[in-house]
Amino acid sequence: MNLSFFAAGAAHAPVNPWVALAYLVSGIFFILALRGLSSPSTSRTGNRFGMAGMLLAVATTLATHVPMIEGDMQNSYAGPDFVLIGLVVGAIALGAVIGVTTARKIAMTSMPELVAAFHSLVGMAAVLVGLAAWLNPSAFGILDAEGQILVASRVELGLGIAIGAITFSGSVIAFLKLSGKMSGSPILLPMRHVINLGTLLAIIGLVVAYAMSGAGGAGEGLLVVWITLAAFIIGFLLIIPIGGADMPVVVSMLNSYSGWAAAAMGFTLGNTAMIITGALVGSSGAILSYIMCRAMNRSFLSVIAGGFGADDSGGSGEAREQRPYKQGSAADAAYMLEQAEKVIIIPGYGMAVAQAQHALREMADLLEEKGVEVKYAIHPVAGRMPGHMNVLLAEASVEYDKVFELEDINSEFAQCDVAFIIGANDVVNPAAKTDKSSPIYGMPVFDVDKAKQVFFIKRSMGGVGYAGVDNDVFYMDQTMMLLSDAKKMVEEIVKAID
Ligand code: TAP
Repeated sequence: MNLSFFAAGAAHAPVNPWVALAYLVSGIFFILALRGLSSPSTSRTGNRFGMAGMLLAVATTLATHVPMIEGDMQNSYAGPDFVLIGLVVGAIALGAVIGVTTARKIAMTSMPELVAAFHSLVGMAAVLVGLAAWLNPSAFGILDAEGQILVASRVELGLGIAIGAITFSGSVIAFLKLSGKMSGSPILLPMRHVINLGTLLAIIGLVVAYAMSGAGGAGEGLLVVWITLAAFIIGFLLIIPIGGADMPVVVSMLNSYSGWAAAAMGFTLGNTAMIITGALVGSSGAILSYIMCRAMNRSFLSVIAGGFGADDSGGSGEAREQRPYKQGSAADAAYMLEQAEKVIIIPGYGMAVAQAQHALREMADLLEEKGVEVKYAIHPVAGRMPGHMNVLLAEASVEYDKVFELEDINSEFAQCDVAFIIGANDVVNPAAKTDKSSPIYGMPVFDVDKAKQVFFIKRSMGGVGYAGVDNDVFYMDQTMMLLSDAKKMVEEIVKAID
């Protein structure tokens, strides 16, 4: 079996200009994909560009590296290796079936954990490619004249394996936390900062030692094994202290890591498409992490250092003091909505769980027919993944020009008659503005307290949002609690408006 097939354009082989052009075009498709995905109205086109780019990159790699049976002195005929071709095509088909089935079955609310699981595969792939290149460097074209792995390739290998292993174990922990298979609360080890910093420095030292060592043999092998093990451990250590509320940032950060790991492996394999794709994923993930940190008013370093949400006192319904609140019915809400001139709807995680977006759209249509102005206000971290609410509203065919981001609509609450909160909680919690001890302090939130009337749909007074804290909006004079499943309540309101 000729392993050079996997070294798609081994590092030092001259690159065919048509192959380079095809990879460049696929890179342009990926950039167009990212551009398309930046807005709900162009996201479908963006997805198609991404698929076309990937198809072109994979087809180019396969077409330019048909695996051949190696010839020898007696028999110089080298024909296509159909066993290897079959294995590659079989693996692609199996991956496609698993991918399509999983994507079709997965609930929108479980998307973050699916993304985390997929990142773990990217990380593991980088580790395996790195180990394969280290074990069989000649097949990857990374040997110098003396038969030693090139220094630059050692750096790429060491970094690729390290980043891949961190991505793998970090993503597995993120998956376990997000899917509820492991507690979402931070697990805080004593002296964790010292341990983490020490392990990170050790990994850097090991990569440098591996890059400088030229002797090969057992000592060098031990360095690669230590880099791999230490990186698996640091991935685990970095994510366990991070609490649930910071998980979205962690997932996007791991997304970024998986991109850098792929880019490092692209250098090892001499594959331009992989370098471009890895760099795009790495940088877009880093930018998304930064945007999310800003939306939650958290510094990137404090997220990485972890520990947020360790104190969840006030999170349980029983622990909270009983305070008076007003409860209303669907008929009360329908009556007041019909009288309103302007209604701003704030959807959150509960709308996603209840799948209430279609009923909500129907309610908004009815109100608009009656001359009420209806707008939707979307918080950057509403729901459980970036763009979660936009996707659901788009699914219900809500026009994009009625959907506004926090900074564009926040000033309008003072002029609105009804702030209609449906399954959102943390993103409207004024404690983020006033209570320094609150775990969400500093996160920008909607100023719903400025609205004349607030309707708050949730199932019970005991339930809390993601950050597990009480919300003063429940108890405000102008708030009417509509305690029910979101879809059921909106359907009843629709009936009452009719
Ligand atoms: P949350 O604060 O999580 O509040 C969800 C609310 O929905 C709760 O009040 C819950 O109360 C209610 N609810 C749940 N199921 C419901 C149903 N079937 N019908 C009606 N109500 C239901 O949501 P949010 O305001 O969207 O805030 C998002 C939070 O998640 C933030 O803290 C954010 O940091 C975090 N987070 C965000 C992301 C991203 S990237 N978007 C990812 C992970 C975490 P009941 O239980 O009483 O019904």
